[in-house]
Amino acid sequence: MEIKREHWGELKDGTEVWLYTLANDSGMRAQISTYGGTIVSLWVPDRYGEPGDVVLGFETLAEYVDHSPYFGCVVGRYANRIARGRFTLDGVTYQLACNDGPNHLHGGEVGFDKRVWSSSTRESDQGEPVLELSLISPDGDQGYPGTLRVRVSYTLTDANALRIDYEATTDAPTILNLTNHSYFNLSAGQQASVLDHELRLNADRYTPVDDTLIPTGELAPVAGTPLDFRSPRPIGARIEADHPQMRIAGGYDHNFVINGEAGTLRLAARVVDPTSGRVMTVRTTEPGVQLYSANFLPLEGLPGKRGLTYGPRAALCLETQHFPDSPNKPHFPSVILRPGKKFCSTTIYAFGTL
Ligand code: GLA
Repeated sequence: MEIKREHWGELKDGTEVWLYTLANDSGMRAQISTYGGTIVSLWVPDRYGEPGDVVLGFETLAEYVDHSPYFGCVVGRYANRIARGRFTLDGVTYQLACNDGPNHLHGGEVGFDKRVWSSSTRESDQGEPVLELSLISPDGDQGYPGTLRVRVSYTLTDANALRIDYEATTDAPTILNLTNHSYFNLSAGQQASVLDHELRLNADRYTPVDDTLIPTGELAPVAGTPLDFRSPRPIGARIEADHPQMRIAGGYDHNFVINGEAGTLRLAARVVDPTSGRVMTVRTTEPGVQLYSANFLPLEGLPGKRGLTYGPRAALCLETQHFPDSPNKPHFPSVILRPGKKFCSTTIYAFGTL
């Protein structure tokens, strides 16, 4: 195993940014930056043992700072949308920035994806590389109440899994929803799109959205819709289907209610790339997972790593999370964090081959 740290660049204000490389003893390598806690690359063996980089991203820090569509970053304080950027907690109404049409998205103008995190490394009890990132988000940061202390630990296990543990505490009541926004293409650039990737989701229900992508509040069955991935289906099979939810989102951009008990680690998704033979399983303690088929990537393509260009459907995101707009949906699992309580959440992206 190996842990390496190199200087990756600076922000305009001179803040130094590091790029860490974690390697395990089973052929996997992850590069993670202290800028946004971003997974910059993730090298995974294919069916012949050939490593390939399965996440979209850029080669330089400057591109992440300038125009990243949330490639690989930690999203916070609130992943996904809050309607009209408004919520009421203990009788006090808070107004956040509306940075996505009428709504608040991914923590606002300067979310956790744009912050430089403090870092340290260690070995797990099993001798695996661990990168620990931490951040103090001050009271009032982006309009959110409470001083929030957050820790995100990345462990690259010898079973070829990237394990992400999130922890947070606050000194005043607040809301919180953390995720990672990696864009996966398991062919490692061999296929320009993920339309042939086969997806299984462990979800009988999803949260339908209005035309600004805010949940209506319903927990609707996936049965009989293009969102039914209870048995494996190619992503592309029904992505153009004439279904209102697919038209609203321009593809998949929906939160699924993961079967089983939130708070316990259970299967959320399994993805197979028949070309490379790579298989990814996603397990999480979170109640939901956002399936996003990169619908907003530009049609002309966004220049990325190794001369690749990324267009719509170039990747899929499986963002484990609490449901969008939960602060305004009292019947959704609660996203409130209070002083004296510790928020803990785990997501594991595990890799293998057919
Ligand atoms: C999430 C959202 C999408 C989009 C992307 C980032 O997946 O659900 O609508 O905002 O993030 O581009």
